Amino acid sequence: QRSVEDAIEALRAGEPVLVHDAADREGETDIIYHADAVTPEAVARMRNDAGGLICAALGYEVAEAFDLPFYTEEIDHAATRDHDLGYDERSSFSLTVNHRDTYTGITDNDRSKTIQALGEAASTPSAVDFADEFRTPGHVHVLKAAPDLLAQREGHTELGVALAEAADLSPAVVVCEMLDDDTGNARTPADARSYADRHDVTYLEGGHVLEQLG
Ligand code: 5RP
Ligand code: CA
Ligand code: ZN
Ligand code: ZN
Repeated sequence: QRSVEDAIEALRAGEPVLVHDAADREGETDIIYHADAVTPEAVARMRNDAGGLICAALGYEVAEAFDLPFYTEEIDHAATRDHDLGYDERSSFSLTVNHRDTYTGITDNDRSKTIQALGEAASTPSAVDFADEFRTPGHVHVLKAAPDLLAQREGHTELGVALAEAADLSPAVVVCEMLDDDTGNARTPADARSYADRHDVTYLEGGHVLEQLG
């Protein structure tokens, strides 16, 4: 198995890494890029090779600086009442956003614009007027990491942000679940590993990240 150090180098180089959370959690492998590295081609790769939801995960402090709440805290709807996820205490969803210089927001060009701008904003949060630059609702799901990161939650949100921090990059990554076109389920770890081998991408177990960075 490749090391956390390899993943850190890959993220720094603008390459994706694959992270499987845990068999007793979601049991999903996400493709993760640092937000700064997300091009239209990277969005197309996530759509085609992963197929899950394309989300931008931000560190807690950055999300707070942008006044981005947890979705369930802000939305006063009866359906937010029981947050009965099978795999965690709560989701990390915040709002959905588009950069204001996008048109529909969904195209590879538009999503890449939104995501890159989130990455840039995350590097200088105090200099950003978030609402000036982004609108909600949009087509990129923002995820907000737990305040104490891996000590508090072991999701892809926190695993991705922790890897970015370890790489000395701004706490902004993009995650997208790798789904299986044939079974209707998430790709198995074995299948995700074989994708990683074929494409020369680093694959990591969340437990391994927790040992090194948790
Ligand atoms: C959003 C999700 C993904 O699983 C994503 O990895 C973020 O969630 P978590 O931090 O709970 O793993 O459901 O598409
Ligand atoms: Ca596909
Ligand atoms: Zn996840
Ligand atoms: Zn998921």
